[in-house]
Amino acid sequence: MSYSFVVTAQNKIIINTDLGTEKISRHIYGHFSEHLGHCIYGGYWVGEDSDIPNTDGIRNDVVSALKEIGIPNLRWPGGCFADEYHWMDGIGPRSERPTMINTHWGGVTEDNSFGTHEFLELCNQLGCEPVICGNLGSGSVQEMSHWVEYLNSDNVSPMTDLRKENGQEEPWGVKFWGVGNESWGCGGSMTAQFYADQMRRYSTFLKNYGSNRLYKVASGPNGADYDWMETLMKNGNPGRSFQGISLHYYTVCHDWRHKGSATQFDESEYFTTMQKTMFMDELLRRHINIMDKYDTQNRVGLVVDEWGNWHDVEPGTNPGFLYQQNTLRDAMVASINLDLFNKYCRRVKMANIAQTVNVLQAMILTKDDEIVRTPSFYVFKMYKVHHDATLLPSVVESENYTVDNESIPDLSSSASKDANGKIHITISNLNPNKGTAVICELRGTEKVDFVKGSIITGEKINSYNDFGKKEEVTLKEFSDVKVKGNVVTVNMPSKSIVMVELQ
Ligand code: AHR
Repeated sequence: MSYSFVVTAQNKIIINTDLGTEKISRHIYGHFSEHLGHCIYGGYWVGEDSDIPNTDGIRNDVVSALKEIGIPNLRWPGGCFADEYHWMDGIGPRSERPTMINTHWGGVTEDNSFGTHEFLELCNQLGCEPVICGNLGSGSVQEMSHWVEYLNSDNVSPMTDLRKENGQEEPWGVKFWGVGNESWGCGGSMTAQFYADQMRRYSTFLKNYGSNRLYKVASGPNGADYDWMETLMKNGNPGRSFQGISLHYYTVCHDWRHKGSATQFDESEYFTTMQKTMFMDELLRRHINIMDKYDTQNRVGLVVDEWGNWHDVEPGTNPGFLYQQNTLRDAMVASINLDLFNKYCRRVKMANIAQTVNVLQAMILTKDDEIVRTPSFYVFKMYKVHHDATLLPSVVESENYTVDNESIPDLSSSASKDANGKIHITISNLNPNKGTAVICELRGTEKVDFVKGSIITGEKINSYNDFGKKEEVTLKEFSDVKVKGNVVTVNMPSKSIVMVELQ
C-alpha cells in the first residue's frame, strides 16, 4: 500500500521523496459527458448559427474553461444513453438525421445533431483523447465493429468511404473504447457471466486499424459488487478481451429516493457526504485485490469512469436533467477521490467525473451565454500538478473529525514529483470547525524550498458560485508555509484544500 491513515493527536504527513515508482496517469483527471439534460445541448453544442460565440457550433467559453483544467479525455455518449444510441443516426447532413426518444433522461426528443463528427471536433478543440462507449445493450456486434472501422480505418472499405464522404479524410485513431455501460443495469440487466460472454464476443470484432491499438474497457461493477469483478476477471479474458474494467460509484448523502439538496445542508449532512465518499478507498482496495489475484502482471487498468456527488436536482428543474449546484462540499469530494485515485495509481489508470457541464458534479454550469466555474472545477485546476507525475508514497497521520459520535480523519492528501523534480503536495482539511498546522516531513531529502502554493476555501461549507455574482469559492495564492530543512509546516484554515510546490 502506498499510504495509509493513522489517527493521532497531531496532523502530520510523512512523504517518501525517494521511493516513488508509480506514475499518476493524467487520465485519472478525465471527464464524462452524456446526452443528458443540458450537458451536450446548450452545454457544449449551440450550433453554428447561435449568438453564443462558437467554433463550428461548439461554445468557445466552455472549451477555453476546460482547457484551463487540462482536460485529458472525455467519455461519450453515455452512460445509460450509450446502450440505446445508434451511431449511424448521428452522421451525415444534420437536417437528414433521424430523431429518437431519450428514454432515460426526461423522454426528450434527441435530434442527433451532435454525433460522431461533432464529438471528435469537440475533443480536437479541447486537445483531449476521446473515450467512446459502444452500444452492447441494444445494438449489434456488426454495428459496434462498423463504428470502430468508421473511426479508425484507412483501408479501402465501405465505412472508410462513408467517413470520407462525410468530410473526414483521415482516421481519427480513437483508442479508448467502452464495451457497453452498466450492463448489470440500464445497459441490459445482464448477469456477470452473460455479460462476460457477450463482451468477449463483441471484443473479438473490435479491430485494431493501422498502428492504433484499442484500449477496451469492460463494463465493470456497481460499487461493492465484488462478484461482478471476480466473474469478469476470471472468465472475461482480461488483458486480451479488455485492457480496462470500469467501476461506478456515486456519493449520495441520504438515499436514492431522497438524496439531499446540493446547497441546503447542515454539518451532519456534510460529514455524512465525506464519510460516504471515503468508501471509495475500501472499494478500490477490495476490487484491486481481486484484480491482483487474476492479473498478477498488472496489465488491466481499473477505470472509475463514473464518480462524484449525486444530489437532488435544483428546485424547479426537470428531474430527468440531473442539474445540481456545486459547493465547497463538492470540492472536498473531488479532492478526496482524486487523492485516492492517486494513491491507487498502480491500478487506477483512468477516471471520469460525472458530468462536466450542467449535470451532476459539473465543472461548469451554463445559463444562456453565461458560464460559472464550480468549486469542483478549481480542484481539477489545482490538481493539474499531479498529471503524469510520479506518486510519492506517503503516510497521513490525522486527527479525528467527529460528528454525532462518528469519526473520519481530518485530512486527505497525496504527493507527487513531476518531470522537473518539483514536489507537489495536495492536502484537504475536511474539518469545518478547526484550522490546523500540518507538519510534512519529507524523507529522502535533507532540505527543500517552498516555491508557491494555492488554496480553495469558502466562508461556509455550502458556499458556491452563481451566475452574475462574484465567485465565493475560487483558487487563490497561498503562502502560509514554514520550511525548516526537510520539514514543511502548512497552516491550513478550516474546510480548505491546499497545494504546496517545493523543490
Ligand atoms: O451519470 C448518470 C447516469 O448514472 C449514467 O447514465 C449511468 O451510467 C449511471 O447510472
